[in-house]
This record gives sequence, C-alpha cells and structure tokens, in this order.
Amino acid sequence: MRPLLFVVFISLLMCVFTHGKKGNVLVLIGDDAGFETAIYNNSVCQTPGLNYLARRSIIFENAFTSVSSCSPSRSAILSGLPQHQNGMYGLHNTVHHFNSFTELKSLPLILQKAGIKTGIVGKKHVGPEAVYPFDFEVTEEQMAINKIGRNITLMKDKASEFLSQIRHDQQFFLYIGFHDPHRCGSTNPEYGQFCEKFGNGEPGMGIIPDWKPVHYSPEEIVVPYHVQDTPKARSDIAAQYTTIGRMDQGVKLMLQLLEKHGHLDDTLVIFTSDNGIPFPSGRTNLYSAGMSEPFLLSSPMGKSKWGQRSKELVSLVDIVPTVLDWYGLEYPDYELQGHKVQLTGQTLLPLAHDDYSVESSSSQASLFYKSIIINLTAQPDYPISQKVQRVLGGPPKMLPIGSHRHCSLMDDTAEVSKFGYETVLMRNALSDQFLSITKFNSASGQKNYTLITMMTMGSSPL
Ligand SMILES: *[C@@H]1O[C@H](CO)[C@@H](O)[C@H](O)[C@H]1NC(C)=O
Ligand SMILES: *[C@@H]1O[C@H](CO)[C@@H](O)[C@H](O)[C@H]1NC(C)=O
Ligand SMILES: *[C@@H]1O[C@H](CO)[C@@H](O)[C@H](O)[C@H]1NC(C)=O
Ligand SMILES: *[C@@H]1O[C@H](CO)[C@@H](O)[C@H](O)[C@H]1NC(C)=O
Repeated sequence: MRPLLFVVFISLLMCVFTHGKKGNVLVLIGDDAGFETAIYNNSVCQTPGLNYLARRSIIFENAFTSVSSCSPSRSAILSGLPQHQNGMYGLHNTVHHFNSFTELKSLPLILQKAGIKTGIVGKKHVGPEAVYPFDFEVTEEQMAINKIGRNITLMKDKASEFLSQIRHDQQFFLYIGFHDPHRCGSTNPEYGQFCEKFGNGEPGMGIIPDWKPVHYSPEEIVVPYHVQDTPKARSDIAAQYTTIGRMDQGVKLMLQLLEKHGHLDDTLVIFTSDNGIPFPSGRTNLYSAGMSEPFLLSSPMGKSKWGQRSKELVSLVDIVPTVLDWYGLEYPDYELQGHKVQLTGQTLLPLAHDDYSVESSSSQASLFYKSIIINLTAQPDYPISQKVQRVLGGPPKMLPIGSHRHCSLMDDTAEVSKFGYETVLMRNALSDQFLSITKFNSASGQKNYTLITMMTMGSSPL
C-alpha cells in the first residue's frame, strides 16, 4: 500500500474504531465455567468453539472475579463497580432478593442512552429491572432458565432475532448468559448433575438440534488440584465436561451468527465466567479456584495479539471501562450514597490492540493497574481496623516486580501471611473481608503507594 493511502486507511480505521462509531460488542458469560479447556492446558475436555475464539483473542491467565458468587459477580460485570459499591451483596432471585442501588448507572443503561442497541439472551440474574434495562431481553425472567440458558438452538434463534433488528447505522451490545456448565442436580435431577442429559435426544430428554453431545469416561478426566480424587468426583467432572461442551458449541454458534450478520470483523468479543467451578474450594470460596476466571478478549484491531497469553492482572470490573473505551464513551459523572462514583477497573484495549506490547505490560506499571489504590496518609472516610493500621504503619518497602500476584489467595490462614516482605494477606480484618495489602514505590520513586486488593463476602461498604 502506498504511504498516503496507508495513512488514509489508518485514519479511516481510527474513525471507525477509536471514535467508536461502528464497533459492536459481544459478551459471552459461562455460568460457573472454569479452566476445563485446552486454552488453559486441559487437553481432555474438548472445546473447539473456545479454541477458535482463543485463536482470535488475547488469553489472560490472571483474571479474577470481584466476588465468587453469581449475582454479585454479574452486577460487577455489568456495572464496573464491585458488589459492595453497586449494592448487590447477594443473589438476586426469589427469597435472596438482592438488588443494586436504584441510582446506579449500569453499562446497558449508559449504552442505551448513547443510542447503542442492547440485547441480552440467557441468564441475567441482576436487578432491579430499571437499573439493568436492555432493549431486547429474553432471560430467565421470560422463560425457564434451562431453556433460555442451555438450549443453544433457542439462544441462537433469539440472538439472531436481535441482530436482525440492528439497522445498518446502528451499533449493538449483545450479552449472552449461558446457564452451562452450572449444576442442576438440585433442581432437575432427571437431567443429571450438570443437566448433561437435557436436550441430548434420549427419550424424555428433548433435543437441542445444534448440540452434538460429547461424552467422557470418569477415568479419562482431569481432577483439579483442589478436588478429591474419588469416583463420585470423577463422574461429576465427566458430566461437567459434557455440559461445558454444550456451552462451547453455543460459543461457536454465536461467532457464526456474528459472521453471518457481517459483524465478525467489527465486534469486540469477551468470554469469561462469573465465579469458580462448583466444586470444593471453587464457587463461593476466596481461594484461587473460586476467584480465578478464564478470560478471552478478541479485538479485530489486535490481530498481532491473537493467540497470545498475558499474565496481566485482570478483573471483571475491567469489562465496563473496556467496553466504554471501545465505543468511545465516557463514564457518567454522578453520585451514589453521597459519593462521586469512580470506576476502579481499567480498559484492557491497550493490551488487546496491535500497538501495545504484552511484554512491556509486565512492568511496574501493572502494579498501578488493578485494584484500589488508597492513600492512607490521608484520613480515610471509612472505618479501618487497628490491625490493618498496624500493618500499614510499617515502613514502605520496594516491591519486586511480579511478586504480589494473587498467590496470596491460596493461603488459608487467618491472621497475617507474608509473601516476600511487601505483601500481607489479611482475613477478617474488616469484618468478613479479605485484604491483600502491598506497599510499593512508583517507578520513578517519587511516590509511595499502598495497594489494597479487597474481596468482600459480607456487606461492609468500602
Ligand atoms: C499452559 O502450559 C504452558 C506451557 O507449559 C504454560 O506456558 C502456560 O503458562 C500454562 N497455562 C496455564 C494457564 O496453566
Ligand atoms: C430447543 O429449542 C429448539 C428451538 O426453539 C426447540 O425446537 C427444541 O425443542 C428445544 N429443545 C429443548 C430440549 O427444549
Ligand atoms: C496522601 O495524602 C496526604 C495527606 O492528604 C498528601 O499530603 C499526600 O500528598 C498524598 N500522597 C499521594 C501520593 O497522593
Ligand atoms: C518512599 O519510600 C522509600 C523507602 O522505600 C523512601 O526512601 C522514600 O523517601 C519514600 N518517598 C516518599 C515520597 O515518601
């Protein structure tokens, strides 16, 4: 290409993408999905759909949810604020009845105001309705969750209906909430522990035309390090793999739909999950197995990053800033509970786009990247326990690069555990919260910061 043409071409791309006039977003969320895929080194569980997406994505190896529970995690995905800031401390459904604050400005609300068509198909599990409105909505609120969350043919049909409504000059945001590979033994034991028989074509199970079930024997599966190797666990995992396969084929269907509607090359695609797998130390636990998430970010603007792996710390609260960045939208200026709302996550686009080296990101800069940075010299406007203050009172030390990672999450001891000499992990320091506290200097040595990673299981606001 001649230089001038090239400049024009690049400028056009910038118009199209940087200034967010044409790009779309597809978010795919697995329900209790984990690392059972070749992408994360599990060579038994077959996931051709995810593998295909991974070949078009940057693959994050250190992604974490803000909380290991369904509705709170999904509220953080859709609001960019962790559960203790958006108000959704627990499950949304029935008797649990948790909701986000009514003044919250969620992602679908912001996008709707900006004229972007929003759609959700499958599991929603957040509320209230007025806080999380979608233009097109087919979820467990309209249909049985097993149908709309596990019947990938039905999900494909609904997603296709949404995409057909998008006018040529419109942008869209489509959120697909798979209910797979969630357990279903307590609600629908007739379909098996993981609903692995639902729609498999056997008598009484119904049929899901687009699903070709893959079966595994308990002998061949991989037992995760945090699960006891027992025959029962093995047969559970074999069933889980079959159900993962249904989600995986659903992922492929959605990508094929994008292609069919001409949007494979102008759509940002994110795949992740809400919390860990439903096994010991997984879902609802603050161990790594409960908090770690698979995370794929596929940008048509980042072909040089496709298939690459990143060790960058990523949080599900990064999704909102990433999506806003993609559309070129600002986060609104408003208050919640009398405080100006600020996103603590950051856009991941620089990591996924061509002009940014994955290598260079593993630097000191990444320490600034995540979590809440609080200047404790200033008086905090929330109560902080004396124990924390004692720890923070000590002299700051330089943090060796990379040493602060979430290794702390694997520790179970109450009290304080030291990792190196800079990071401390505290449990129950603030009621039932879990803190990882790291002191470090800025790269220039001009400023000392305290980095606090906080995970809440309870309701202490911070
Ligand atoms: C998978 O294995 C490769 C090669 O051994 C390694 O580089 C990578 O870190 C592993 N990934 C995970 C998520 O364990
Ligand atoms: C799945 O959805 C398709 C399309 O609506 C339908 O034909 C099929 O019967 C459904 N299968 C089950 C198991 O509900
Ligand atoms: C921290 O807060 C103190 C007191 O308000 C202020 O003097 C100091 O500059 C702040 N430090 C940083 C790094 O922002
Ligand atoms: C930051 O901490 C270092 C010790 O690690 C100290 O020498 C330096 O004076 C501190 N800088 C500021 C601005 O407080």
